[in-house]
Amino acid sequence: MDKNKYTETSEVLHKGRTGRMGMDFNKPEMFPLFPAVSFTMNSLTEVKQAYESKYTYIRTNNPNRDVLAEVVTYLEHGEDSLIFSSGMGAISTTLFTLLSPGDHIVCNRNIYGETFDVMGKLMNKFGVETDLVNFDDLQNVKDAVKPNTKLIYSEVCANPTLNIADVAALADIAHANGAWLMIDNTFTTPIAIKPIDLGADIVINSLTKFMSGHADAIAGSITASKKLIDEIQPISMLCGTPGDPYAAFAMTKSFHTMDLRVKKQMANAAKLAAALEANPYVSKVYHPSLESFPQHDLAMKMFRSKEEMSGMMSFIVPEDESKFDDFLQSLHFAHYAMTLGGLRTTLAHPCTSSHSHMPDDKRRAMGITPGLFRLSVGIEEADDLIADFTQALEVFGK
Ligand SMILES: Cc1ncc(COP(=O)(O)O)c(C=O)c1O
Repeated sequence: MDKNKYTETSEVLHKGRTGRMGMDFNKPEMFPLFPAVSFTMNSLTEVKQAYESKYTYIRTNNPNRDVLAEVVTYLEHGEDSLIFSSGMGAISTTLFTLLSPGDHIVCNRNIYGETFDVMGKLMNKFGVETDLVNFDDLQNVKDAVKPNTKLIYSEVCANPTLNIADVAALADIAHANGAWLMIDNTFTTPIAIKPIDLGADIVINSLTKFMSGHADAIAGSITASKKLIDEIQPISMLCGTPGDPYAAFAMTKSFHTMDLRVKKQMANAAKLAAALEANPYVSKVYHPSLESFPQHDLAMKMFRSKEEMSGMMSFIVPEDESKFDDFLQSLHFAHYAMTLGGLRTTLAHPCTSSHSHMPDDKRRAMGITPGLFRLSVGIEEADDLIADFTQALEVFGK
């Protein structure tokens, strides 16, 4: 069959249904849950064979992780994937596999705080050095590369100001210097962009966010070449970071609606960003779809359209902290949550949460002021969200 005959939207619904070795169990419509810690064997001959090709023990391999990995691999255009206990499990296990004492990482300074801590605090303890630079200017990346640089690391869109990493250009820099490019696709998802097509070697997703979408399970994935995945898998077994079958089962279900959900979330974000930019109480909106976004031209080059960039955005309201609680309580739909990517619109306040440990001047230099709220846009109707934010922002006029 011609592989390109059908759309990804339809194909993805039919992935992850039979598992490894054609396990189809009388063809159930949904691949069943395998919580079994162990599979059984009738003879030592079977035990020996099991080590080569069958399921043995839950931490070693599991059918639900395998079907989920198949779908992630399909969506990310990789050769193979592994499913982990969390996004952080995926990141830390991969770094432990790829890096040795004396190696060096060049990392975007705008990254998720705990990823930064893995590099700065954990890898440092084992003799791996990390330099953090601003990836908006690629010269900074080139200047930071050293002979011992093994890895260049970035998110596609940074938290919370959505700065975009030029994945193709970063891949060229990495490969010219014998390093891998590892990209976090959590804020964008493979529905918006496929970093491997742009030259990335390794893609990590926190599946906990948009890809699950239901805020009811935690898992992470790594997609790469078969060779790299075969190196990471035994380390994952040793670190105890493979994903739980229940989470993999829940996510396989969620994945079947991902295309519908994430496309609507991204389109809603573009509409809401435009409406908020026109609001008199909002001084700045960060979303790559906006012409005012400093890297708008790069975004238009990297993504298919303004409506398919990211469901994440940020905006700045007047710095009157006494009104922030009123603002949050006036919102009918959006509510504060310590996560992102769910079906329902949620807010976060980086100065109180993810960036609370940073001095104010450093935060301001990154565009993060006390008036900045980060928004994860849900699947409500865009006009309802616009009406809701418009009425809630009136608190700043009182
Ligand atoms: C961009 C990004 N990467 C990785 C992670 C870690 O994911 P998890 O919470 O699944 O470990 C997060 C969590 O918020 C994130 O926002």
